[in-house]
Amino acid sequence: MSLLYTTQLTRAFGGVIAVSDVDFAVEKHSITGLIGPNGAGKTTLFNNITGMDVPTSGKVFFKDEEITGMPAHSISRLGIARTFQNIRLFKEMSVLENVMIGRHFKTGKSMTSGRLLNAVRSYISMKGEEKAIYDTSREWLEFFNLDKFRNESARNLPYGSQRELEIARAMATEPELLFLDEPAAGMNPQETDRLMATIRRIREQGVTVLLIEHDMKLVMNICEQITVLNYGKKIASGNPLEIRENPLVIEAYLGKEE
Ligand SMILES: Nc1ncnc2c1ncn2[C@@H]1O[C@H](COP(=O)(O)OP(=O)(O)OP(=O)(O)O)[C@@H](O)[C@H]1O
Ligand SMILES: [Mg+2]
Repeated sequence: MSLLYTTQLTRAFGGVIAVSDVDFAVEKHSITGLIGPNGAGKTTLFNNITGMDVPTSGKVFFKDEEITGMPAHSISRLGIARTFQNIRLFKEMSVLENVMIGRHFKTGKSMTSGRLLNAVRSYISMKGEEKAIYDTSREWLEFFNLDKFRNESARNLPYGSQRELEIARAMATEPELLFLDEPAAGMNPQETDRLMATIRRIREQGVTVLLIEHDMKLVMNICEQITVLNYGKKIASGNPLEIRENPLVIEAYLGKEE
């Protein structure tokens, strides 16, 4: 059984059917790609799986449990973490504080960002569980080679490193399934190469990865399975070779690239 799957998932915004009748699956321990032209419905599908939006119809299952329409914090607690197409960091907070917040979410306490900030700041006098959050956050920063920046404001990081910091924060919640929405967007070729290696290392930690990406080199290199959306509909699903040779995909997407 797939780790995650949807059945006939549909999300309509008035007359626009952003996601239309999509049956989609992610296999455990895979790196799976979700591709398609701009406006194909990729982010909407992410939002409807992660609880940031509610489907018009259809169902979502994670580990054989139906999670359709559950709130985002509950889905996060079940073990799905995500990053966003537009980076969402606490830009004025330090790199370390941004990751500590990710750890904090794992404990399940919901707080306003102001209270959260105070809680993080109070870790200056840390002990017990708080110390554990600090230590684990430092470990995740080391995993992403960001520990040297830990006391910098997030906004001072190079762009590619900000994207990695967002992934670090998601990983700090110790997800089973990690969703990345265009992780390589805005990265230079060196940053993209490093990101590919990082995503492979994340999978080696036992985490399943689902990523939306327009960078075909990245997608074809690291994904074992790829699903293609076009105008909200799933038009293909298969391994990179099958996707590359699929005439519908070439017409809808890859053809336009060239
Ligand atoms: N909140 C919303 N209200 C109305 N329409 C929306 C909303 N969110 C998305 N849409 C529409 O749904 C369609 C799919 O958008 P979505 O952002 O999911 O595409 P995408 O595949 O992620 O595109 P991109 O590659 O540009 O990020 C688009 O036509 C978009 O305008
Ligand atoms: Mg999108």
